[in-house]
Amino acid sequence: MSTGISTAKMILFGEHAVVYGEPAISVPFTQALIKTEVSPSTENQFASTFFTGPIEEMPPFLDGIKRLILSIQKLLEQPEPLTVKVLSDVPVGRGLGSSAAVATSVTRGLYNYYEKKLTEEMLLKLVNHAEDAAHGNASGVDAITVVTEKPVWYAKGKNMETIHFAGELTFVVADTGIPSETKAAVADVGVLCKKEPLEYMPLIKELGGISREMKELLETNIDKIRIGEAMNRSQSILKKLTVSDPKLENLIQVALSAGAYGAKLTGGGRGGCMISIVENREIAEKVVKALQANGSAKEWIFTIGEGKHEGDRPSTYECGIN
Ligand code: MEV
Repeated sequence: MSTGISTAKMILFGEHAVVYGEPAISVPFTQALIKTEVSPSTENQFASTFFTGPIEEMPPFLDGIKRLILSIQKLLEQPEPLTVKVLSDVPVGRGLGSSAAVATSVTRGLYNYYEKKLTEEMLLKLVNHAEDAAHGNASGVDAITVVTEKPVWYAKGKNMETIHFAGELTFVVADTGIPSETKAAVADVGVLCKKEPLEYMPLIKELGGISREMKELLETNIDKIRIGEAMNRSQSILKKLTVSDPKLENLIQVALSAGAYGAKLTGGGRGGCMISIVENREIAEKVVKALQANGSAKEWIFTIGEGKHEGDRPSTYECGIN
């Protein structure tokens, strides 16, 4: 048996705007991992909590992964059947990049199984291909963050750089428990920007402006209060773009009242997760308690920065299945 592992991702600034060529800042979310196990089999099988059965019969929402497995087998000229089993503690459809993370871990697992060298460039190409099937108009920010496992500054078709944070940051992430409708949210923002460009395109530009401002701050001077304010500004713009929802708004208010400097949705929105920035672990624990008492489905405390550019991957990793 061979394995492939990947992390989730968390967008700090610039979601939705990144679809229009504005920059986004995204980090690997190492609190949630995906592991793929590949083993020989009598027929081509896929196993996961979302679907178990022959690869040919995978449901439409797994089209990207199905296409990925079949195209890797073809590319590497390996027609023998196998079982691809995905174990995940990344909640599906919560704005944490689960589709890019599954594609990355499956690709790594298959290349390890076939004992073939996988370059980062090739991995990115394969994951982007799978993401196109999953999201339609994906900007590529999820794929680049998950594949590089580094905080990234990304502007579609223009620029991608690794960011080094000047200090440590602590976030509390909370899951609304509601699947995020990324594809529909991206499409609806597209309709708004097309129908009323004078009203909505300045909002997209403003989100890009916040990413630019925050890149400089994150790389030179970790001012948590200013980062929190920028998160609040982003959230009010994302709300105007119609991608927030009452459950996200509620968790955001709970986090702010419990002492977070700022909070916003992350990823596609309309369900999914919210992120909040806090001063330290002590405040983070207070925020977690408040969120637990007010309807969040799951919470994580996540630190990143100061030599921990890859985040604080848990020291013992057990593949929880959800
Ligand atoms: C999804 O994680 C981020 C969005 O900006 C869509 C995309 O960039 O493909 C909403």
